[in-house]
Amino acid sequence: MEQKTARLGTDSAGIAAAAKVLAAGGLVAFPTETVYGLGADARNDAAVAAIYAAKGRPSFNPLIVHVASQQAAEHYAEFSDTARQLAAAFWPGPLSLVLPVAGGAGLSDRVTAGLDSVALRVPAHPLGHALLKAFDGPVAAPSANISGRVSPTTPQHVLDGLDGRIGAVLMGGACDVGLESTILSVIGDQVSLLRAGGITAESIETLLGRSIGRPADPDMPQSPGQMASHYAPAALIRLNVTEPQAGEVLLGFGDQAQAVLNLSPHEDLAEAASNLFAMLRRIDLIAQEKQARIAVAPIPMHGLGLAINDRLARAAAPR
Ligand code: TXA
Ligand code: MG
Repeated sequence: MEQKTARLGTDSAGIAAAAKVLAAGGLVAFPTETVYGLGADARNDAAVAAIYAAKGRPSFNPLIVHVASQQAAEHYAEFSDTARQLAAAFWPGPLSLVLPVAGGAGLSDRVTAGLDSVALRVPAHPLGHALLKAFDGPVAAPSANISGRVSPTTPQHVLDGLDGRIGAVLMGGACDVGLESTILSVIGDQVSLLRAGGITAESIETLLGRSIGRPADPDMPQSPGQMASHYAPAALIRLNVTEPQAGEVLLGFGDQAQAVLNLSPHEDLAEAASNLFAMLRRIDLIAQEKQARIAVAPIPMHGLGLAINDRLARAAAPR
């Protein structure tokens, strides 16, 4: 449904207006430290259905529920000791915990897509946090992009895809982590990594004092929404390229004179993560203009490199 998308400021009036849109069952895009989320009241069936409609998202793909504190999260899921340990260490922050739904949680079935688990997250971004506090309820929020496309790290990215399809955008700045949250399933003391993201697997293993394994091949979905093709730019992508061919524009990493854009000339993975989605969008426009393909330099497979490589593999996957 075509509607006027309000651009809301980041002062207290803007936050109050955003909370009001949520309370009325509308959709609000808001910044988190990872990417912009497209929020709706997680208890309101029609509001949650509107998220799927605005994004063109398949309805079997469940949503992450965002809350302001761990205390609030305990209302919606059952926390084991291990889940509490993880929450204490990494919340607020870029970690989502998939936990058994609590009895009487009152969430829309569309949020969990009928599963008996729910993904919960307490974001650290001051604006996202302020919105969650002002709304004072659970906010279901996927990334604020058309389903299957590159995730948004600025309000302009959100508007590029969703202007006229959502109630409002809280116009914060760029997201600094730049990659979505790490998703962990926690059943009792059993922990598995469903999606690599802003909290590294190494830091989780250091906390727990044991190995948690790595997500399976991106071609083998673990979370229902982990489809192989995702984050897809319009141009075709080739990965792990040190020497671009004719007809390719290079997205570099490290010292690469041929790079048209560089994720991090000094090989800093946090910088590369923060630049990834915005640079994918920019190089896609350059590639389309030149009728070229995108080539991406090799990214090391440790720390945030795990999540960066995961997103790149999906961006390059057959569509
Ligand atoms: O950083 C983020 O996580 C961002 C910001 C907005 O918080 N959100 C985000 O949401 O990336 P989305 O919808 O793009 O990705 C959520 C992922 C999907 O792959 C979905 O399948 C998975 O979480 N998920 C949600 N609930 C789940 C559940 N109960 N069990 C397994 N996977 C679940
Ligand atoms: Mg997404």
